[in-house]
Amino acid sequence: MTIISYKTASAQNCAEFIDKDIAIFYPERFKASDTLPSFALIKEPETMERLPDDFPVKVNFYKALDKNCAYIPIDDDTSLYGTGEVTGSLRRNGAARILWNTDNVGYQRFHGLRLYQSHPWVLALRQDGSAFGVIADSPYKQEIVLTEGIRFISNGPPFRVIVINKKSPEDVLKSLMELTGNMPLPPLWSLGYHQCRWSYYPDSRVKEIADTFRHKKIPCDVIWMDIHYMEGYRIFTFSDEHFPDPKKVNDYLHDKKFKSVWMIDPGVKNEEGYFVYDSGSKEDVWVKEASGKNFTGPVWPGDCVFPDFTQSKTREWWAGLYMDFMKLGVDGVWNDMNEPSVFKTSTYTMPTSNLHLGGDDLPKGAHARYHNVYGMLMARASREGILKANPDKRPFVLTRSNFLGGQRYAATWTGDNISSWEHLRMSIPMTLNLGLSGQPFNGPDIGGFKNDATPELFGHWIALGAFYPFSRGHTHQNSIDHEPWAFGEEIERVSRTALERRYRLLPYLYTLFYEASTTGMPVMRPVFFADVKNMNLREEEQVFLLGKDLLIIPKWAQSPNLPEGNWHTISLVGEDSENDAYQPEIKIRDGAIVPLTKVIQNTADYSHDSLYLLISLDDKEKAAGVLYEDEGEGYGYKKGEYLFSSYTAEKKGDSVIVRKTKSRGKMKFKDRIINIEVITGGKVFKGKGKEDQPITIRIK
Ligand code: NOJ
Repeated sequence: MTIISYKTASAQNCAEFIDKDIAIFYPERFKASDTLPSFALIKEPETMERLPDDFPVKVNFYKALDKNCAYIPIDDDTSLYGTGEVTGSLRRNGAARILWNTDNVGYQRFHGLRLYQSHPWVLALRQDGSAFGVIADSPYKQEIVLTEGIRFISNGPPFRVIVINKKSPEDVLKSLMELTGNMPLPPLWSLGYHQCRWSYYPDSRVKEIADTFRHKKIPCDVIWMDIHYMEGYRIFTFSDEHFPDPKKVNDYLHDKKFKSVWMIDPGVKNEEGYFVYDSGSKEDVWVKEASGKNFTGPVWPGDCVFPDFTQSKTREWWAGLYMDFMKLGVDGVWNDMNEPSVFKTSTYTMPTSNLHLGGDDLPKGAHARYHNVYGMLMARASREGILKANPDKRPFVLTRSNFLGGQRYAATWTGDNISSWEHLRMSIPMTLNLGLSGQPFNGPDIGGFKNDATPELFGHWIALGAFYPFSRGHTHQNSIDHEPWAFGEEIERVSRTALERRYRLLPYLYTLFYEASTTGMPVMRPVFFADVKNMNLREEEQVFLLGKDLLIIPKWAQSPNLPEGNWHTISLVGEDSENDAYQPEIKIRDGAIVPLTKVIQNTADYSHDSLYLLISLDDKEKAAGVLYEDEGEGYGYKKGEYLFSSYTAEKKGDSVIVRKTKSRGKMKFKDRIINIEVITGGKVFKGKGKEDQPITIRIK
């Protein structure tokens, strides 16, 4: 067994197992110190034995036009997915993608081929339902070309490739998670609905937004503060005029059971006397030009310097800045502009010749090497700082830029989309492919960021957006109001129903997030997961699965390819989605048990005592399901303070018997009553009973 150290390894041309069915391929002339340590992998893999010749996936390294490339042939019927944050269709065959994190308003720059994040990763699904996944383990700029097989074309030095070959896509995603790290379980509140705009200010407007949600009884958990809260866009400051007392704003929000998320960008105003600039300069943390002097470039505050997150001292300094910030009652942090975006340049970022000094764990290198991981390193430092400030809470960071494996540090959204039907439709394959690239916690700006939504578009978007893993309305500073009530009474009603549906699903959603954090399975999934051998489902991108038990069919979906089997339309809050103009149809898989709660206005009102099981019997008159519960915050769950329950239902004569069959964890709910709804023979039968005993529901 050997461990290849990035500092010592040298030229090789070999392929070895690093785990069962997981192989690592090294090209000739590979020099570990050129591309490692890996940013994607959580630890350097141990090689086990040489790969036999019959390993089903081949990796051919070659050089073309001075670029180092890897080519992985595929069979004709293999479908390709992943490749991170992408425009275009769900099935990636034939597509090309450039991995170079780019501030890309409206996805219009560079033909939308490069966006804010880079995931050098492809998931390949064979005709027989078996699957493999490929990681090109390099942070350098590269192109993924899927016109014929899988091709990675790198601007950087020779790089290694890791191949996970498994019997199912689920198994591939699990291994991807084991290699690249899991999404830590987020706080429950972050699964609620979030309301944002660029920007709510002054503070009285923030309060007004919060009050309106409560007054109109539209469920919501989080209000977001975009850049206008700052003094002249200086990070970690507050505008004297608009936010003189941020703690008071947070207290007000907390009082009304809201959480707050505040933006922090990487660019630090280049200005002596400003405490962030002064302390950073004292520690000498800024990215350098090739000449060695501090690089400066314009962003919101004017000329800025940029923290060099490759240095551990910078990350510590940055993390330290959150101490006082979080004390003001800030609940979550939004890291934006961290590609990093630099204005007044043709590349929208800093020169590739800029220098990052690295240090104990990373080598010194040019920006060309570190560009794609700048956002990831920033998110990591932010997370560490927030955790230090609030060690008993689960950090929530939203980052715009990231890299493969970045789910370890932050959730994400898909940047600056447009209020258009095209972008509404595209949000589904985008969210799905990010999920298939290891990032389950993501979603687009509901309503669209750029331009004004029409009432109709907004209605459809929020009706769909209630099912994104990350569900946040947001819009541009020049757009009209995009709150759920801004488009008149009908759309206000549509929004309320949509969000009430989300909140009823909270126990199911939270269980899916738990599953995502322990198995790597995305929360929102392509329908092909319902039947991996059904080739008709491979391109379906209008309809999707939430977990494995619910199918979401947007109203505008035209002739979607649906999985076979009996899927029953359900109503969660009295809606009639078959005849509703906006609400997607939700169908439950037969044989499923889906846990629900009652309609609540925010997750603080969530009670473990309000539990409903929605049961759909299969053709054997049986059903099964699971539920994960914990405090929704903190780390008690790591010490066993959680409950993972399995339930079954079975028809016996004129009754259905519901049982809790197994449970894991120390949490207890004494004498909890569960409400049951059984769907069978096209009818719904209701009843309730104590969870600890078999519950009998008459279905006659
Ligand atoms: C760009 C972000 O993508 C957007 O969401 C934000 O509103 C603006 N920056 C202003 O901070």
